[in-house]
Amino acid sequence: MGKTPKYQQVADQLTRLIEEGAFGPGAAAPSVRKLSQQWKVSITTILKAYYLLEARGLLIPRPRSGFYVSSQLPSAPREPALSDPEPDPSTVGMRELITMIVLRDTLNPKLTQLGAAHPAQELTATRQLNRIMASAARRMGDRAGLYMAPPGNKPLRQQIVRHAVVAGCTLDADEIIITSGCGEAVSSCLQAVCRPGDTVAVESPICFDVFQYMENLGLKALEIPTHPRDGISLEALGFALENNSVQACLVISNFNNPLGSCIPDERKKALVKLLATHDIPLIENDIFGDIHFSTKRPLSAKAFDTHGLVLWCASFSKTLSPGLRVGWAAPGRYRSTVAWLKYSTSLATATLPQVAVAEFMAEGGYRKHLRRIRRVYQDRVAELRRAVIRFFPSDIRVTDPAGGYLLWIELPESIDALALYRTALDEGIAITPGHLFSTGDRYGNFIRLNAANWSDEATPAIRRLGRVIDRMSKAG
Ligand SMILES: Cc1ncc(COP(=O)(O)O)c(C=O)c1O
Repeated sequence: MGKTPKYQQVADQLTRLIEEGAFGPGAAAPSVRKLSQQWKVSITTILKAYYLLEARGLLIPRPRSGFYVSSQLPSAPREPALSDPEPDPSTVGMRELITMIVLRDTLNPKLTQLGAAHPAQELTATRQLNRIMASAARRMGDRAGLYMAPPGNKPLRQQIVRHAVVAGCTLDADEIIITSGCGEAVSSCLQAVCRPGDTVAVESPICFDVFQYMENLGLKALEIPTHPRDGISLEALGFALENNSVQACLVISNFNNPLGSCIPDERKKALVKLLATHDIPLIENDIFGDIHFSTKRPLSAKAFDTHGLVLWCASFSKTLSPGLRVGWAAPGRYRSTVAWLKYSTSLATATLPQVAVAEFMAEGGYRKHLRRIRRVYQDRVAELRRAVIRFFPSDIRVTDPAGGYLLWIELPESIDALALYRTALDEGIAITPGHLFSTGDRYGNFIRLNAANWSDEATPAIRRLGRVIDRMSKAG
């Protein structure tokens, strides 16, 4: 995909000006000719931008008079409040719902996919990596068929170490273990630090994968209140540690799935310190950290680890391609246990994907790819958010994440997100109901929407979803 078309850049610039109040509701937009002269772009470009803004509901054309800013600009709704999960540890059991949603609906090409947190296919680097894998296969011959047992391909580990510098980490390649995705990294790290029956303090809400791993390992979840921007509440975590027997803590430090929260770097430092004083390991899932919208990557909690107690986990699934199954863990003092667990569970991660990612990174492809996808995802999140604000009832709350591609939306209390999920399917739309993001039923009126595949063509789907929500909230 090339760079953003000029008219879209113009439309985005105008959207920002309208949102900042440079043109109030009902005001005349600058004439097409004048703006074309001022901004040194063609009249056609300005016109296309104005039509796009009309489609977005920001401008209204008046015959023979030009374009006017809509007098009913969608007002920005509030973000959800600090979460308020169950105060006690609970056992985890959610296999059926997950299987139903993840396996059945996310693979259905007939649905408008706003559900699963998969990246957009055209924003993966699958084609480039396929080419590198083909050439590596020719070069390596039979060696491409050998196991690449833990810790995994050394050049790849060296590249990850180089990349980790932007996350504030000074690591050695020997500290990294290549895994089959972030999922295997997190699951192995949980197994390395916990025994069945142990309790893990987790951010709430948190992605259901985490509950899946915990269910498999017979662990209990203690859900900790989490802020939609600042992540896990350190105050609530401190209280929980004083009053419960907790063996590990797990956070999605940068752009939590589904909340979008990003723990500010200073608070990450405090989090690592708090856990170290209790000698409790922190499993840090940093799978979205590279998709940040500001110029600087947020640090990882691992950057503040002086005791080997942070087990940093990530993968290339959100950035390069989920099908590669290449991820990693930097498990600190649990390195040899995690390496053994990886070996005894899946022996090795596939050879060619490891080699290909290492080569792609070495030639600067990863950094370049990230620069491109960050901008596109930022635009898509903003567009989906705008559509939600425009078409959903005005009393909803929606997050405003600074990275990733997910929105977490609180609907009126009368809405059952599971019933909404079913009705949305009838309308040809896949969404993810909030029930999946907690062991309790705290998020029964929340949904997660994925902006990765957003395009203006998906606007009617959000309009229909808005109508369904409106109907349901009136009936409820
Ligand atoms: C927060 C989070 N962790 C882990 C995973 C799984 O990652 P991988 O495909 O690299 O195993 C996902 C995928 O959706 C995710 O969203």
